[in-house]
Amino acid sequence: MYKIAVLPGDGIGPEVVREGLKVLEAVSSKTGFKMHIETYDFGGQRYLKTGEALPDSALDELKQMDAIYLGAVGHPDVEPGILEKGILLKLRFELDQYINLRPVKLYPGVWTPLKDKGPDDIDFVVVRENTEGLYLGVGGFAKKGTPDEIAVQEMVNTRKGVERCIRYAFEYTTTRNKKKKLTLCDKANVLTYSHDLWRRTFAEVGKEYPDIKKDYAFVDAVCMWMVKNPEWFDVIVTCNMFGDIITDLGAIIQGGMGIAAGANINPEGVSMFEPIHGSAPKYAGKNVINPMAAICAAQMMLAHLGEKKASGIVEEAIAKALADGKMKDLSTKSGLKTTEVGDLIINNIK
Ligand code: IPM
Ligand code: MN
Repeated sequence: MYKIAVLPGDGIGPEVVREGLKVLEAVSSKTGFKMHIETYDFGGQRYLKTGEALPDSALDELKQMDAIYLGAVGHPDVEPGILEKGILLKLRFELDQYINLRPVKLYPGVWTPLKDKGPDDIDFVVVRENTEGLYLGVGGFAKKGTPDEIAVQEMVNTRKGVERCIRYAFEYTTTRNKKKKLTLCDKANVLTYSHDLWRRTFAEVGKEYPDIKKDYAFVDAVCMWMVKNPEWFDVIVTCNMFGDIITDLGAIIQGGMGIAAGANINPEGVSMFEPIHGSAPKYAGKNVINPMAAICAAQMMLAHLGEKKASGIVEEAIAKALADGKMKDLSTKSGLKTTEVGDLIINNIK
C-alpha cells in the first residue's frame, strides 16, 4: 500500500492532477498495487485565507509518505515568489530532493519546432541539481532603494551537494544504458570557482565509471546544440539554475509544456512528481488544458516506486494516445478536453 500525498495546488493544477489520479487508479486495478491518497490544499487560496504557505506540521506528515504528486502552484493574487519559495522550493529543500530529473523525449506523433528532427533525435534526460546553487536564497541588499544599492545572490555549491548529484547522474546514465554518455553542462570558463568544483568532481567521480563517455559543454553552447543537434545528448548533468533554464528549452523541443514532466528525487527519502508547467490561472476550470504532463509525472512516480509493470503500461498508453498525431499539438489548441485526454489514456490501459 503506497501512501501518496496529493497537492493539486492552484489554477489548472487540480484538473490535471485529477486526470493523473484517474490513470493511476486504472493501472492499479489492472496490476494490483494499492494506493492510499491523502490530499492537501496548499496553494494560493489557502495562503490568502490563512497566511500560511506550507506549515511545518505538514512537512512532518509528508515525510511519512511514499511519494508526493503535485499539480502546480502560483496564484494571480499572490506576489510572485511567495508560493514558489514557500511551497515548491520549501518542499524540494526540506525533503532534500536533491535531484530534479527531467526527461526530454519526443514521442512519435508529437510536433516539435525543430525542423528535420524527430523522435530518434530528441531523447535525453536532464539531471538538475535541486537543492543548492542560486536557488538557496543566500544573499542580501545593501543601501536598498538608493542609487548605490547593492544586491547579492550567492551561488552556493557544496562538495557534498555537487558530488551526490554527479554520482546520481553517472548511475542514471549507466542504468539508462543508451548512448552511455554524460554531458556536464556548466560555465567553467567564467564561474571559475563554482564550476571548477563541478569539473573536478565530475572528473573524479567519472573515474569510477570507465564505461561512460564524459562530455563537457558550456551552458550557452548546450542551448545551441539542443536546437541544432539534440541527438548528441544522452544525459546532461547541471546546476540548479542552468537546469531550470535548459529544461524549458527541452520542454518545447519535446512538444511543449503540455507534456514535460519532472521528478524531484531524494533517493534516500520522499520524492515528488510534477508537471513542469505552471498554474495557468486563465485556463483554470475550463477543461481545456492537456493533462499529459501530469500523466507523465504520474508515470515517473510509478517507475520510482518500483512499479515497473504499471509504469510500462502507462508509458505505452501515453505513446499509443500520441502516435496517430491527433494530439500533435499539446497546447490548448488541440481541441481535446482535459477529461478526454485522461479517458483516452485509461481506455488504452484497459
Ligand atoms: C521549475 C519552476 C520553478 C523553478 C519555479 C516555479 C520556482 O520554474 O520547476 O522549473 O525555478 O525551479
Ligand atoms: Mn522552470
